[in-house]
Amino acid sequence: MSKVSMPIPADFILGAAASAWQTEGWSGKKPGQDSYLDIWYKQDRHVWHNGVGPAVATDFIHRYPEDVALMKLAGLTHYRTSINWSRFLLDYEQAIVDEEYALYIDKFLDELLRQGIEPMICLEHYELPAVLLEKYGGWQSKQVVELFVRYAEQVFARYAGKVKRWYSFNEPIVVQTRVYLDALRYPYEQNTHKWMQWNHHKNLATARVVQLFEQQGYRREGGSMGVILNPEVTYPRSSAPHDRLAAHYYDLFYNRVFLDPLLLGEYPAELIELLAKHQVAWDYDDRELDIIRRYPVHEVGLNLYYPHRVKAPSHQWNEHTPFHPAYYYDPFELPGRRMNKSRGWEIQPKIVYDMAQRMNRDYPNMPWFIAENGMGIENETDFKNQEGEIQDDYRIDFIAEHLYWALKAREEGAKCLGYMLWAFTDNVSPMNAFKNRYGLIEIDIDHQLRRQPKKSAAWFGRLSTTRTLTLTLDDQYK
Ligand code: BG6
Repeated sequence: MSKVSMPIPADFILGAAASAWQTEGWSGKKPGQDSYLDIWYKQDRHVWHNGVGPAVATDFIHRYPEDVALMKLAGLTHYRTSINWSRFLLDYEQAIVDEEYALYIDKFLDELLRQGIEPMICLEHYELPAVLLEKYGGWQSKQVVELFVRYAEQVFARYAGKVKRWYSFNEPIVVQTRVYLDALRYPYEQNTHKWMQWNHHKNLATARVVQLFEQQGYRREGGSMGVILNPEVTYPRSSAPHDRLAAHYYDLFYNRVFLDPLLLGEYPAELIELLAKHQVAWDYDDRELDIIRRYPVHEVGLNLYYPHRVKAPSHQWNEHTPFHPAYYYDPFELPGRRMNKSRGWEIQPKIVYDMAQRMNRDYPNMPWFIAENGMGIENETDFKNQEGEIQDDYRIDFIAEHLYWALKAREEGAKCLGYMLWAFTDNVSPMNAFKNRYGLIEIDIDHQLRRQPKKSAAWFGRLSTTRTLTLTLDDQYK
């Protein structure tokens, strides 16, 4: 064990994240404004933990003044959330704004700015309007790319004076991976080709929005247009060539499919060849590739939670099995791994440092930050002290260890702009709802959603005022 103390650079972001649908609730939502998640929840309430979902969430839409005051208390320098596309418009084709929702966003942004907290806003955090899924098949359609650009235009026109940092998507790979690759979520259709088409259209939509942002002068005015990705830091079981090849393929299909086009402007040639070989190539043309080439993002947020481990595949595929990237790998569980048992995720804080090395090597010009990292724990009320405060020392240790690696990478020259925790308050997760609690602030769902800071909130606040990280590191995890 060694005690470590590290200075936190003055411009280093110390923030937290959330999303519109996971916090706002449906209050004031009008007929026809459902998102994809809302219809999934309405259809399949039973798959959501205790039947709880986005309907009430944390009621942020009414309680944001209280929450922003708590953000200040917890020392957040930045707060990331999304604007809910499905609620921002009344008509998605004509991009007619819902003035009531737009006014709420205005007031919420004003409140953040008044408290000196910088907003970072995603245009989409899984909030695809349900009617666009029903009418066009969602991101399957090029028309939805056009409608997203129209939506972005309205958003920038209203809020570019208040928000400088924008992001097209949060984790653009997730919805279609759960829905079309693995058929785990509504509408449960296994279709690898659709998976790739959605991937491509989200890349294209990001480039189109970067183009719009630049052409309308927001970049010149000091704004930036980025994306939030969730690359999984992938380790092979062993150094054997076949295990390393499995990790290489995993990385191509799940990480580089977004990293390369969005950060470098180009899909990996090897990925294109593999998709053709397996007959899941997407529909695209040279004009689209040209837009992707000309409009890479200005910065990238990386959601880093756990390491991903693979080994060479041991299975055989037959001609009836549709292509799935798992053709090239098997998952691997490291014996003796450190675990967050509530979420079933391995804990390996060094992923942050390893990702930083990769950013230096493969994407050296791209500024990046940790956009999400956090620890979801079940039954957290078991950790309350006599005063009723959750003693979440496990969360403090988790944050400290990940932050340590981020600061070390930054000291060594990585373009790491900061660290953001998932999440500010406890909130609703897809399916797991309030089962695993992530927040610095507890939300008591049995008592009118009462807010109560956890021990970690005060710790985070001290981190932010002292600008010094102090921790005891277990040498085996260094
Ligand atoms: C990220 C998402 O993947 O992880 C969030 O951006 C999500 O929306 C968070 O809530 C935590 O994961 P989960 O599945 O436990 O909610």
